[in-house]
Amino acid sequence: SDGEVVDAKAKQRQLDEVREDGSDEFLTSDHGVRISETDNSLKAGQRGPTIMEDFHFREKMTQFDHESIPERVVHARGTGAYGYFQPYEDPDLGEYDDISEVTKASFLQDPAQKTPVFTRFSTVVGSRGSADTVRDVRGFAIKFYTEAGNWDLVGNNMPVFFIQDAMEFPDLVHAIKPEPDDAVPQAASAHDTFWDFASLKPEITHMLMWLLSGRALPRAYWMMQGFGVHTFRFVDDGGESVFVKFHLDPKLGTNELVWDETQKIAGNNPDFNREGLYDVIEAGHELEWEVGVQLVEEDEADQFDFDLLDPTKIIPETEVPVRPIGTLVLNETPDNFFAETEQVAFHPGNVVPGIDFTNDPLLQGRLFSYQDTQLNRFNSANWDEIPINRPLAERHNNQRAGFMRQEINTGTASYKPNSIGDDDPAEASAAEGGYEHHAEKVDGRKIRNRSESFEDHFSQARLFWNSMTDHEKQHIVDAAHFELGKVDRMQIRERVVFDLFNNVDHEFAKRVAEGIGVEPPDTPGDEIDDHDREDPSLSMANRTP
Ligand code: HEM
Repeated sequence: SDGEVVDAKAKQRQLDEVREDGSDEFLTSDHGVRISETDNSLKAGQRGPTIMEDFHFREKMTQFDHESIPERVVHARGTGAYGYFQPYEDPDLGEYDDISEVTKASFLQDPAQKTPVFTRFSTVVGSRGSADTVRDVRGFAIKFYTEAGNWDLVGNNMPVFFIQDAMEFPDLVHAIKPEPDDAVPQAASAHDTFWDFASLKPEITHMLMWLLSGRALPRAYWMMQGFGVHTFRFVDDGGESVFVKFHLDPKLGTNELVWDETQKIAGNNPDFNREGLYDVIEAGHELEWEVGVQLVEEDEADQFDFDLLDPTKIIPETEVPVRPIGTLVLNETPDNFFAETEQVAFHPGNVVPGIDFTNDPLLQGRLFSYQDTQLNRFNSANWDEIPINRPLAERHNNQRAGFMRQEINTGTASYKPNSIGDDDPAEASAAEGGYEHHAEKVDGRKIRNRSESFEDHFSQARLFWNSMTDHEKQHIVDAAHFELGKVDRMQIRERVVFDLFNNVDHEFAKRVAEGIGVEPPDTPGDEIDDHDREDPSLSMANRTP
C-alpha cells in the first residue's frame, strides 16, 4: 500500500463501482444488445416449437440454471453485515504501554483509523434453508479490509471447540450432520450418530457443556460473544511475539432464548435471527462489540495447567484478563445476498503483518481446509478477486489466468526471475511492510501423536458447570434430557453419563441419568480429583451472565 489511511467507506466505494441499481431504462442481453420483447420465446409459427436460435431465451435460462453454487459444507446458513473496526485511544494493556509493543498490525495502532469489515454470522449444521433458532454453535466470521491486506478472524460464539486435531474434523462433521440415509435431523446434536461420536471422544466434554447451555440459543446475533478460539500470535516490529486470544463482547450484553421459545420461533419465523439483524440495521441502529485480547508472554505459557495450543481450553479471565483494544461496529446491510453474503469466503490463513499462527493442531489443519473448500464452492482459484473478497490493499503478483479471471494483467513476463518484464513485483522486507512468518524454532521427530499436555478433558467442563447458577444448571440438564432422550441406543446414553458427565460432576451425571432411563452412577468418575471437586470458587470468567 502507499500508506494511505483506509477509511470505513473505502470498501463501500470499491463496491459502488461494481454495483448495478437495476434502474436502467431498457432491457438488454448480457452482451448489451437491446431486447425488443421478453415474455415469449421465439417460435416457428403461431403454435410451433421454440427455435434454438433464440439467444435471448438461451441466455436467460442458462443464467438461471447456474444461479447457485454449492452451499458451505458447514456453516451453510448465514447472514452478514458491513461495518468497521476502530482501535481505542490508549487501551489498558496491563504491563505494556502501547499496542505497538505487542503487535505491528497497522490497523490496530491509530485510534482515528476505521478499518472496514464484513461479518457473517452462521449456524453450523443446518443446510442453507434451515431454521435459525436451533441448538448449535454460531459462526462469527469477520473480514477486516486493512491497508496491509485482508485479515479474516473466523471465529465462533463459544470460546472452545469440539476436537483437538484437524484430523478429526471430517469425523465430527459426519457425526453431527444429518444421517446419511434419511438426512434427518437438520438440527445439531439430537441423534445417535452425534452422541455416539461424543461418547467416544472425551475431549468433546467441555464443548458439550457450552452446547447444552443457553449459549447455543442466542436471542440475537448482536447479543452474542465472539471468540477466535485458538491461541494466535501477535508479532511486534522487532519480530518478538506474544500469544493472543481474541474476544468480542456485545455492548448490549449477551442474551439467550429458552428452549420453548426457540421451538415456537422456529415454527413461526425460521428466519428470526437473519431478519432481526437486517431489520435492526435498516432501522438505523449501530451494533457494537468491544474487541479484546488476552495476552500471554511466550515464557509464561507453561504456567497454566492446560496447554495454550489445546483448542478445547479457555484461558480463565481470572488468570489473564481480557484487555479491550477497540470497537467493532456493524451498521450496513448488504444489497445482494448472493454476491455478498453467499460469496464471501473466509480463510483463517488470511493474516496481516503483526498477526501470526501457533502450532495449535486444529488451527494448522484449518489453514489448509478453507483455501481448499473455496475451490469447491467457486470452482476457481480466483475467488479472492470478486468484489466482496477483494482486498482494499493493492494486489500485485504473478498469479494469472484460471476460471473467471477478473483482472487484465499487462506486461510480457509473469515469472521470476525475468529480464524482459516491465511489471516485476518487488519484494518487501519486514521493515518495508512485507509479511514475515514468526521465526519460531521448530525441531522434532516426525510423529503422529497427541501431546500429553492435551489429556485433561474434564477440569474446564467442571469449571463451566460450577460457574452456572441453579436455573442455568437446570437448563443444561433439561437440554441433556431432550437431546439424549432422542438417542435410540441405550449404550450411547450410558456412555455419555458414565464416561463424560460423571467425570464432570457426580450430581450433574445423576440428574441427567434420571431423565433418560439410565441407572444413575453410584460414585463420581475416576477422573475427578478432590481438589477440583472441592473448589467451587473457581469461577469461569466467560460465564453466562
Ligand atoms: C466454515 C472447516 C474449525 C469457524 C468452514 C468451512 C469449512 C470449515 C470447510 C466452510 C467454508 C466455506 O465454504 O466458505 C473447518 C475445519 C476445522 C474448522 C477443517 C477444524 C479443523 C473451526 C473452528 C471455528 C470455525 C475452530 C471457530 C473458531 C468457522 C466459521 C465458518 C466456518 C465461522 C463460516 C465462515 C462463513 O461465514 O463463511 N469451516 N472448520 N471452524 N468455520 Fe470452520
